Amino acid sequence: HENIGHENIRVETRGRVGLITLNRPKVLNALNKSTMDELVAAATAFDADPGVGAVVITGSAKAFAAGADIKEMASQSYMDMYAADWFRHWEDLTRLRIPLVAAVSGYALGGGCELAMMCDLVIAADSARFGQPEISLGVLPGMGGTQRLTRAVGKALAMDMILTGRQIDAEEALRAGLVSRVVAAERLLDEALEAAGTIAEKSKPVAMLAKEAVSTAFETGVTHGVQIERRLFHSAFATEDQKEGMAAFVEKRKPEFRHR
Ligand code: HXC
Repeated sequence: HENIGHENIRVETRGRVGLITLNRPKVLNALNKSTMDELVAAATAFDADPGVGAVVITGSAKAFAAGADIKEMASQSYMDMYAADWFRHWEDLTRLRIPLVAAVSGYALGGGCELAMMCDLVIAADSARFGQPEISLGVLPGMGGTQRLTRAVGKALAMDMILTGRQIDAEEALRAGLVSRVVAAERLLDEALEAAGTIAEKSKPVAMLAKEAVSTAFETGVTHGVQIERRLFHSAFATEDQKEGMAAFVEKRKPEFRHR
């Protein structure tokens, strides 16, 4: 997973955690096509790597990402957007099975907020600011924001943010359920790496089943979701890790998961 071939991101591993850092500081990590291509490729490689059990995606202190790259989009026509199916490929991130942790400091705006929402856990620094300012550019969120923000925080706040462009800070994001933890900015990366490390200590296939089950709750109705959850739960009993995890509990010892 060395950095070769990446111009816009840094890629490294910390133990069993993959770490991807957006690295376009001059433009506050604006997400142009090549940045997202590199990000999707790096995360996809971690997904397939049995030595990696979770991935942290982060930016800089000032900006997680200030949105899709406005300069790249500004002159595009409808036909350009439609023909390229702009943003389609970014959705590939949501099809990965490995748990993704967004570590957000500073601005997470537009596509940056949407990128955070494509991750499974969002951990915010107290400096984080979330917003969907597209309306002020004469567009609307186009990477899932109208759907994922509404599911995450409810219609009232989603409408407020998407129609006015108002940003919310980390505390409001926590209250609204957009993030699961807020920490001091200087603690952010450690907190995210520890959370990802905790996940990476579990059985990877079972963590992937659990992610799929929760994602199903988010993406479908409850009745269908509960059926899918039950099937995923059943399938955990096909793993050695289920046998080991339950045996370890009964025997009062730490589990030694084989598929980490
Ligand atoms: C391209 C960007 C950018 C972006 C910042 N920059 N955001 N370039 N795309 N999304 C560039 C600036 O042009 C500037 O470059 C440099 O980064 C520093 O930004 P400043 O504005 O000088 O910094 P500051 O004054 O601190 O303001 C920070 C900011 C502001 C409030 C975050 O940059 C801002 O409002 N950015 C745009 C936020 C936004 O609208 N995001 C949504 C994008 S649309 P130069 O060369 O001047 O130094 C989107 C669409 C999603 O995401 C899908 C629907 C189509």
